[in-house]
Amino acid sequence: MRSDSSLAPPALETLAIHAGQEPDPVHGGVMPNLVLSTTFRQPEPGKPLRFDYSRSGNPTRAALEACLVALERAQFGFAFASGCAAATTILSTLSPGAHVVCGDDVYGGTYRLLTRVLGPLGIRTTFVDQTNAAEFEAAITPDTRLCWLESPSNPLLKLADIARLAEVAHRRSTPLLVDNTFASPMLQQPLELGADIVLHSATKYLNGHSDVVGGALLLRDPELAERIRFLQNAMGGVPSPFDCYLVLRGLKTLPVRMQQHCRSAAELARRLEEHPLVERVHYPGLASHPQHELARRQMREPGGMLSLSLRGGEPAARRFLQSLHWFALAESLGGVESLAEHPALMTHASIPREVRESIGIGDGLVRLSVGLEHVEDLWSDVAGALQAAKGAA
Ligand SMILES: Cc1ncc(COP(=O)(O)O)c(C=O)c1O
Repeated sequence: MRSDSSLAPPALETLAIHAGQEPDPVHGGVMPNLVLSTTFRQPEPGKPLRFDYSRSGNPTRAALEACLVALERAQFGFAFASGCAAATTILSTLSPGAHVVCGDDVYGGTYRLLTRVLGPLGIRTTFVDQTNAAEFEAAITPDTRLCWLESPSNPLLKLADIARLAEVAHRRSTPLLVDNTFASPMLQQPLELGADIVLHSATKYLNGHSDVVGGALLLRDPELAERIRFLQNAMGGVPSPFDCYLVLRGLKTLPVRMQQHCRSAAELARRLEEHPLVERVHYPGLASHPQHELARRQMREPGGMLSLSLRGGEPAARRFLQSLHWFALAESLGGVESLAEHPALMTHASIPREVRESIGIGDGLVRLSVGLEHVEDLWSDVAGALQAAKGAA
């Protein structure tokens, strides 16, 4: 086998398959070993080889972390038992009295964590429109210790200008975290744009097969990495080796999956925009999206997620969702199978109604995660469900 030094730097497609995954030194197996052992024999007391106990570190988890580091162009990576465990861990670096500035259109569980878990512990959050850099900057106070955003956001597919907001946050000596779950590293790499921390719900595109709940943090700062390494072990929100193995396997097809997710989502978005029952389609790939130009600049492709506001409000949305066949009515996103959901009643139900409505998550809003089924089957499903929803509008 030729040595690394004679090869050109690998592309993301190659890294997704190989990064962090050395052939098994005993048998030459091309897949990384799934190491289930919780503990590791030490040659001398207190002098383990690389691993001592699987909460602190595990070979299969280390392979996953190394692969994610390569894909996000990070220096350090930490895998967690869920996206929420990753969020909880990074937020545990903050002390009472700290302040967080967060985009106002984030995953409902992130909102819940910030307001109902961190709030009572004395960590205050201001939610701002992340599309407005001036508003974002105005919300930063001398106590702000972290800025947080999702781009594209959930469920309205709003974009944040990551490079611009990183500049704004750094001017005020505050790190910027980007939840990159919707885009995946195939479509954008926030650290390359100036962000300090990337968060993933690995449950979604990274794993891609709706059979693992997982999360990750990726970053470049060695001091922060040391703190997170400590918290990952001390708080213990780590994934099982088996889940790490499955995410590693999912990552191998991430590049080709993302291509097809994007192609089909763009086609459905274009057709949905012309449908009389659809008031508005939220998809960064459409020229009508208020940040279409930013999407072209910041993302390689506009993604596999879209949402649509139906005329006829909740009754039409309910009828639409219950009439679907290939799109499963279910929470979550980013799997090979198409999913549809109602943010106000499902993923974002933990956000108070008045807050939800003020940011545009109305009762007629439906979110689609466009899967890998044939696009004509998906269109016939959606068109049929819209026809059925007409009666309820
Ligand atoms: C954008 C985003 N971030 C974070 C999370 C939380 O991830 P998990 O469900 O893996 O805890 C989700 C879950 O839906 C999400 O959509």
